[in-house]
Amino acid sequence: MNLVNKVIVITGGTSGIGRQIVEQLQAQNTIIVVARNSDRLEQLKKRYKNVTCFPADLSDPGSYQPLSERIQAEFPRVDVLINNAAIQNEPFFTDPDFEYEKITREINVNFTAVCALSYLLIPALNGNEAQSIILNINSGLSFVAKKSASVYCATKAAINLFSQSLSYQLEHTNIKVLQAFIPLVDTPMTQGRGENKISAECAAKSILKGLKQQKPQHDIGKIKVLRILNTLTPSLAKRLLKGS
Ligand SMILES: NC(=O)c1ccc[n+]([C@@H]2O[C@H](COP(=O)([O-])OP(=O)(O)OC[C@H]3O[C@@H](n4cnc5c(N)ncnc54)[C@H](OP(=O)(O)O)[C@@H]3O)[C@@H](O)[C@H]2O)c1
Repeated sequence: MNLVNKVIVITGGTSGIGRQIVEQLQAQNTIIVVARNSDRLEQLKKRYKNVTCFPADLSDPGSYQPLSERIQAEFPRVDVLINNAAIQNEPFFTDPDFEYEKITREINVNFTAVCALSYLLIPALNGNEAQSIILNINSGLSFVAKKSASVYCATKAAINLFSQSLSYQLEHTNIKVLQAFIPLVDTPMTQGRGENKISAECAAKSILKGLKQQKPQHDIGKIKVLRILNTLTPSLAKRLLKGS
């Protein structure tokens, strides 16, 4: 796909990888950013003339329908939906400060919103004679778990099969479903943990390369090694990621 003059919806475009994707696409495309933080949304709008912002809290399933209606009222045609927003809660289930109600919020942001927006924006994605794309941002934690993020890992695993199944459902339409699997990236999500992270700028560049090439499963950087390791010696892959 030629990423010029496209209408692109991205969730979580105000920080980290999403923010970099916005920066790299905004000059030649119309970008619709969905996130909560109004200050950061305002800043984006002021800085980039091609960026439109729709505040929404994706942890609230009640926000999905009004959001998609507002997007489609202004943009009846959408070329690309990038489901990028996610959160990662780390406390263990056995920790005294574990907050039970956060389980549902994490599942909603990371997974329910991905399914719901993919469904609700199908009319806009389909209303386009050319190719359109749903790109889901995924992680190595979708196929090898780490100890401290059970719900996050499970939502990413769910996105993987959801993306594959949805791509079967849409194979006779103009909508392709792609996934980008990314390694550890230096963003607010990974602040204070992990080593040898790649920059958000570099992650965004690789994601957009895969999007242009319409790769259904785009493994970025160390994910390629992790996938081979997980096939050849899954016990080693598990050991490496367990405490990561
Ligand atoms: N960083 C990594 O190492 C890494 C590795 C593999 C995969 N990934 C994936 O890459 C994607 C981006 O991660 P990142 O590291 O760039 O994260 P990040 O810097 O923490 O940014 C998360 C984005 O999601 C938005 N968001 C969070 N909660 C939201 C909610 N309730 N409603 C709407 N928007 C919400 C945030 O905006 P507001 O706070 O304003 O709402 C922000 O724009 C995620 O899918 C993540 O799973 C990251």
